[in-house]
Parts: sequence; structure tokens; C-alpha cells
Amino acid sequence: MDAHDSVTELIGNTPLLRLRTSGEGREAAVYGKLEYLSVGGSVKDRIGLRMIEQAEREGLLKPGGTVVEASSGNTGVGLALVAATKGYRIVTVLSDRTSSEKVAALRAFGAEVVLKPAGVPRHHPEHPLGTAARIAGEIPGGWLAGQYDNPANPEAHYLTTGPEIWRQTGGRITHLVSCIGTGGTISGTGRYLKEVSGGAVRVIGADPASSVYSGGDGRPYFVEAAGHWRHPETVEDLWPQSYHQDVVDRVVPVADRDSLLTIRRLAREQGLLVGGSSGTAVAAARQVAAEAGPEAVVVVILPDSGRQYLTKYFDDGWLLRLGFLDGDAAGVRVDDAVAAAAREQPLPYLNGRTTVADALAALRERCAGGAPAVLPAGPCPVGPRRRPTAPELAGSVALDELTAAVESGRAAPGDPVGDHLAAPLPRFGSGEPAEAALAELTGRGLDTAVVLHDGHAIALIGPADLRGCLAAERPQ
Ligand SMILES: Cc1ncc(COP(=O)(O)O)c(C=O)c1O
Repeated sequence: MDAHDSVTELIGNTPLLRLRTSGEGREAAVYGKLEYLSVGGSVKDRIGLRMIEQAEREGLLKPGGTVVEASSGNTGVGLALVAATKGYRIVTVLSDRTSSEKVAALRAFGAEVVLKPAGVPRHHPEHPLGTAARIAGEIPGGWLAGQYDNPANPEAHYLTTGPEIWRQTGGRITHLVSCIGTGGTISGTGRYLKEVSGGAVRVIGADPASSVYSGGDGRPYFVEAAGHWRHPETVEDLWPQSYHQDVVDRVVPVADRDSLLTIRRLAREQGLLVGGSSGTAVAAARQVAAEAGPEAVVVVILPDSGRQYLTKYFDDGWLLRLGFLDGDAAGVRVDDAVAAAAREQPLPYLNGRTTVADALAALRERCAGGAPAVLPAGPCPVGPRRRPTAPELAGSVALDELTAAVESGRAAPGDPVGDHLAAPLPRFGSGEPAEAALAELTGRGLDTAVVLHDGHAIALIGPADLRGCLAAERPQ
């Protein structure tokens, strides 16, 4: 019979698919390595198997033991399916920003899921990495998989992904493009391909634009599971030991909008439903292919499926609310009202640690008509060039309310203003219809909303701005 005995035999050995490019013949051929066709649905099945089997060999994981891991979801699934076949209990720790589909999949595999708040510094006791280490220590027979620093992670790719690509391209690959999360995929695959090609294969990282791997400032971005984010209060920012920088020739930054619009197009034009990090990787691969010329052969790793993100990247409402979609060009949009009100520049920010007294002075000086200022979470520096992203927006303060709080004794002039935040302002994406935004603000009796573009706060807007713009645009 042509059949397998264990689901673990169906890990890896994923196909290569030639991706359609511009068709002008000036760029390299680009082949996608379709990791979502691995049995657990992602590139991480490979390391789930390798890390567990290595721990068994080393006596770290024994029969009846518990596998514990902090994961953005896929490693959890890779470990969970292997754990299921071997009878281990599994606990995964995830940030509460992880897509709901991944959380549901983990539970379906029988994993226990611990959700921790996203956006805490690395040394915070609630950080997923620290939490997972603590849980592993508390459970008798607990073993922390530790993909960030476990040599079995890059090794899995050195032993499987690299050789598969070399064989599938008949040794013709010239460039490998991969995202970097733990760094295991790019380090192991890249090292194998460099060794087997006598150093000829170029290895290129694809990175969310604000991730630190490509030189970004580490602020939040919207592509899950790739890159390296750094909380502004993180004291010591350690990079994973699974990431071997010496293997990587170059890292290309890719804006979230490019990543997200790339996966929409891959689904609609090429029938490929892949996740956000695949969009980052393909956008970078296209750039590499254009530079490398028609003789080159580029292989890009597509780590997982778009089905894990149907409620995010493939939901027009989600994209529109964050300002990643431009909306209806024929109608009046929120960004038309922003432009008409010339409000884009002076979005007022305050740091949460500013004293109430200084905040009152700043509000009097900078916020015309009693408009509020927005406060980013934590001490992150902000300004016209460093606009806070949606997850960084902690709340707002306004002159009237803050003055009343001081007068009534609820706030002292020396308090950090971050302790006296008003309810968060509503948010609209720049491409949302102005009419709907106006209806929502008036319906809720609110004066101000934050406008988001590409996930960043760009302006404040009120009903008068929206009404004025709609009236000006309405046919006479
Ligand atoms: C969807 C997705 N893309 C990219 C990566 C990054 O891969 P690596 O951790 O091997 O660098 C991950 C890792 O979890 C992932 O889940």
C-alpha cells in the first residue's frame, strides 16, 4: 500500500511552485517553497519534530513529560502534532495579538493555551518567553522547547529544507529569500545551500520595515511571526541564538502595506492563499529577482497558509480600519477630510510620563479648541516622523477634563499624565467612507477620532471636518 504509518512522515518535502512575475523577462525566475502544504500547515512542523526527537535523545523529554513553548502559533502546532503522536502533554504560551485561527487550531490539537498580553518588555514576568520558562520549571517532567535558542531549530532546516531546495532546483538556485523570526529557517537552510554551492548561493532576509533585523527601530508592525519587535523599555535586547547572522548576506525591509497587498494579489491572481510573512518574503524576492537578472534562480520560503489569517489580512474590514486599504475612490473618504482640514501635521502627542502640569501647558499651547492629545503606551519617542502605531495608542487627554481633574483633586500637578487617561478615542482608517465615520461620531456623541494610515496614527478628526468635506464634495 502507498501509505504512511505516522503523521510525522508527512512533515516537510513541500513542493516548489514557479511564481508568476512581471512577464517582461528581465528578472530572475522566482520559485515559492510552499511550506503550508506540510501536514501541520507551516514551516514549523520541521522544527517541532526535530526539537522533540533531539530532546528525547538527550533525555530531556521523557515518557509522560510535558512540552512547553512560547510561540507565535505555528511552532506550537508543529510541536502539538508531534506531541499528540507520542503521548506528551503540551502547553503553549501566546501573545493575545496572535490570530484567533491559530489559537483555535492549537486547542484543536489538544494543546493548553496560555494567552499573555502583547506589548510588554522582554524582562516583564508576563512576557510569553519568561512565562513559558516558568511554566516548564513548575511542571514535573516539563521541557521547554526554546526555539529561539535551540540548535535543533536551525539544524532541522539544515537537514531538510536546504537539501530539498537543492534537489528540487537541480542545484540551480542562486538566491534564497526567507523571513527571519527565530532565524532558524534562514540560518539552517542558508548554511546548507552555501556549503553545497561552494558559497555561491546568496542568502537574503525579508523583514517587516520597522523590525530591528533590517535596521528598524523595533516598533510594532502588523505581519505576525516574522521580524523582531523591541519594546522601548526592554533593557537588554537579545537576538535569538537560532539566528546566525554570518549566513545572511543582506536583509531587505518591506513595508506592512506591501506585505499585505502582496498576499491579497497572490490569492486573487495566482491561487495561492498564504500568510502575511509570505507576503513580506515574496515582496523582497521580487526586488531580488529584478536586481539579479534573468539568469538567476530565486527560491522564496512561504512559511504558512492564509487560512490562519482570514479574520485579519483577508478581511477587508480589518484592513480598512487600520488604513491599509484605500477604500472607494469615488466616494468621500476620511483622508479627504483630513487633507481638507490640513490636519495631517500637528497630531499632538504626549508622553505618559509627562507631569499633569506640563501636559496642561502643552495642551494649552498645542491643541486648538480644547482638542485632545494622544498618548502612546510606554516611553516611546514620538513626533511627526515617529507616529505611534495603533497598538501603541494608550489613550488621550483633553484640556477641559484634565483641568477638571486637577480642580477636583482627582489629579495632582506632579502626577504622570498617563495615570489620568480619558477613554480611548475611536479610530478610523484613512480609506473609510467619511459618511460612515460622521454617522458613528454623531451617533456616539463624540468630538474626536484618530485617523490611521498603514496602521499609524496620522491625524485627529472631528464631525465638523467630516461634515465640511462632505458638503464641499456634494454635487450642487
Ligand atoms: C508564519 C511565519 N513566518 C515566518 C516565521 C519565521 O521563521 P523562523 O522562526 O524560522 O525565522 C515564522 C516563525 O514562527 C512563522 O510562523
